Amino acid sequence: MKLCMIGTGYVGLVSGVCFSDLGNTVYCVDNNINKINSLNKGIVPIYEPGLEEILKKNYKQKRLIFTTNLKKAVSNSDIIFICVGTPTKKNSNSADLKYVFNVAHELKKIINKYKIIINKSTVPVTTGDKVEKILKNLKNKKLIDVVSNPEFLREGEAIRDFIYPDRVIIGTDSKKANKILKSLYMPIIKKTSRYFNTSRRGAELIKYASNSFLATKISFINEIANLCEQTDVDVKDVSLGMGSDQRIGDRFLRAGPAYGGSCFPKDTRALIDIGQKFKTNMSIIKSVVNSNNSRKHLLIKKVKSILNDKLKNKKITFLGVTFKPNTDDMREASSIPMINYLNKKNCKITYYDPSGEKIDFKNLKNVRYVNNSSTACLNADLIILHTEWNDFKLLNFRKLVKKKNFKVFDMRNLYSPSKMKKLNIKYFGIGR
Ligand code: UGA
Repeated sequence: MKLCMIGTGYVGLVSGVCFSDLGNTVYCVDNNINKINSLNKGIVPIYEPGLEEILKKNYKQKRLIFTTNLKKAVSNSDIIFICVGTPTKKNSNSADLKYVFNVAHELKKIINKYKIIINKSTVPVTTGDKVEKILKNLKNKKLIDVVSNPEFLREGEAIRDFIYPDRVIIGTDSKKANKILKSLYMPIIKKTSRYFNTSRRGAELIKYASNSFLATKISFINEIANLCEQTDVDVKDVSLGMGSDQRIGDRFLRAGPAYGGSCFPKDTRALIDIGQKFKTNMSIIKSVVNSNNSRKHLLIKKVKSILNDKLKNKKITFLGVTFKPNTDDMREASSIPMINYLNKKNCKITYYDPSGEKIDFKNLKNVRYVNNSSTACLNADLIILHTEWNDFKLLNFRKLVKKKNFKVFDMRNLYSPSKMKKLNIKYFGIGR
């Protein structure tokens, strides 16, 4: 099939590349000429394991076209995916839909034969209705079907999530569009149950409900972790014991720092706003957002107490600063408020992240980047394991640190407290 992805951000690029690998011809359009020029040279603007290889392969075979020419891309395609950003609006919780609506207005000028317009961007329930309204001023109303097809790709695991999805959600009541989309997704649908056709509004809400539920699960276990710390229980045991109940499930029950990234914080806030618009109190999600925000302060407090409230000139090492491993993404990473605070208190911070140096910390006078764990840990008073990159899972701290009395704060519970005790290392985890 011939597809057009509008927006070569995370969702558009990963989906476009993967669709081309399934044999489709895919036009990836962006209005950022530099980005398109880079992509045409095989330079991938995001950090996603495996993406570059698949991109290069399909580009060579001419199944993948990067262009700024929206008109040509749309005219040559049967299915158009809107994959533009929906960031949180300034000074509000609501999703900013201007990019989505701009695209709809552009499409209206171009479309002259039947196309399926798919919203892959995360958009509040009823956005599809609004997009349809913009487009339905077309002379022939039958020219388009506007469908919601949310994505469930995790950064760092996006290729795998695309090829082996738990489910494909198609929101449309058009039989024609549904039939075409089912055949588009057929190569990756193993069981028919994985393909779920629902209403457009239903699909829009499934996306927000899924992300908000996962955020709730994380906040829940994080609060249980707080209780574990007061009661001498290991939260890992609680996760295991709870998660073994199939009704609960063990995934997304890892206690850690506050959840971050470009999705959970934005989507939980947006769901509160959607609730307000439809006069429904989303009290659980409000609590989750509050709990996650206060967790950032709580962890700073914990660092202070680990260092006996003596922060000045303490040498602190951060291993990993991204919001999760296998990405270079710093959006809403809990390391940002922590490092900013510790910098102000004149701690001497060294950090290493396998995805490289971060612009977020460039101008902080007490913060420096090094490019390996050994140099990062050498003089540390306290090592904070912030992100669970594989590189940090088998470290020999006794060899890495030259001081005798250093401390380790393992925010991802990667190490065994009893083994650390045997090594005579002062070890602190989360909820244990
Ligand atoms: C999330 C969803 O998992 C995807 O299904 C969805 O498609 C995506 O948002 C999106 O809407 O685009 P992502 O933001 O890439 O994916 O990251 P996650 O793996 O979900 O992690 C989010 C945060 O939760 C991270 O800070 C991570 O460290 C934290 N987390 C996750 C925990 O603290 N504990 C866990 O058990 C799991």
